[in-house]
Amino acid sequence: MLQTHRPRRLRRNQTVRNLVKETTLTVNDLIYPMFVMEDANNESHKVEVPSMPGCYRFTPDLLLKEITEVYALGINAIALFPAILEHKKDDTGSESYNPNGLIQQTVREIKKEIPDIIVITDVALDPFTSHGHDGLLGEDGYILNDETVEVLVKMALSQAEAGADMVAPSDMMDGRIGAIRDALDENGFDRVSIMAYSAKYASAYYGPFRDALGSAPKSGDKKTYQMDPANSREALKEIALDIDEGADIVMVKPALAYLDIIYKVKEATDLPVAAYNVSGEYAMIKAAEEKGWVDGKKIMLETLTAMKRAGADVILTYFAKEVAQILGKDYS
Ligand code: PBG
Repeated sequence: MLQTHRPRRLRRNQTVRNLVKETTLTVNDLIYPMFVMEDANNESHKVEVPSMPGCYRFTPDLLLKEITEVYALGINAIALFPAILEHKKDDTGSESYNPNGLIQQTVREIKKEIPDIIVITDVALDPFTSHGHDGLLGEDGYILNDETVEVLVKMALSQAEAGADMVAPSDMMDGRIGAIRDALDENGFDRVSIMAYSAKYASAYYGPFRDALGSAPKSGDKKTYQMDPANSREALKEIALDIDEGADIVMVKPALAYLDIIYKVKEATDLPVAAYNVSGEYAMIKAAEEKGWVDGKKIMLETLTAMKRAGADVILTYFAKEVAQILGKDYS
């Protein structure tokens, strides 16, 4: 039978499939989000996050050990998230810009021990406020925008002073990228880059992360600042604003249910696009794997490859260490 088109010819065996593969996931693409916690008695320990098997909160000394290990595996970038002592939280999140706060001290230690690893710090108030919101809470329950941006600027500056390579505002206040860029430049930190959580959705997929940090909002939800999952044009607007304000990398978050957004953002900008494979996405795969219902490792690699195929240049993922163990160190 005459059959001109036989696409299966290029799927015949692994070597030909490798030859025509369009997307290759490498360890170089990954950022490993990690949790650091304070211990009231300054004892060193690590605690597994119940809803995120394989992910831990570490006291700074043990975190440093873990980072040394993952750096040796080929992970070149980490994103730090703090769990501070409850009594240090207040209405305005003032501990966030303490020059000797948990994050600031941890960054200094990491950069002293492993100067080449890219240390990314989170700029948002939720781990620091007693009410658990990412900004200052107005009397009517609305999150105050411009007042919050002032605190975020102080926070980003203190992180840059501690040696952060990149600051990552995840708060979704209006105008924070421009304000932070100006402040960094005015204070001599023109080399510190900004990865903007530009299209961050009000998502139920963040549940396990909030467990990890004890940062769930005590009242209300985050819908007046994070985006509505029903919208995609709004994502393009947020991306355009952040680029205009000086973002170096723009992010879409979550990733798995938002591949269309990643694709659209990629089409709309020449900047690197990051995708955050968030805690709930991690937890779903781990839970199904534990039940024996899916092959967790294969699903992990398929999911991350799909994010890259959709347009992500950079992926933040709790799977980073496992991926590094499977794929090995990559070429540079
Ligand atoms: C808060 C922040 C959140 C995440 C990263 N930074 C949670 C939230 O917005 O409530 C979620 C990450 C994850 O779920 O993996 N600024």
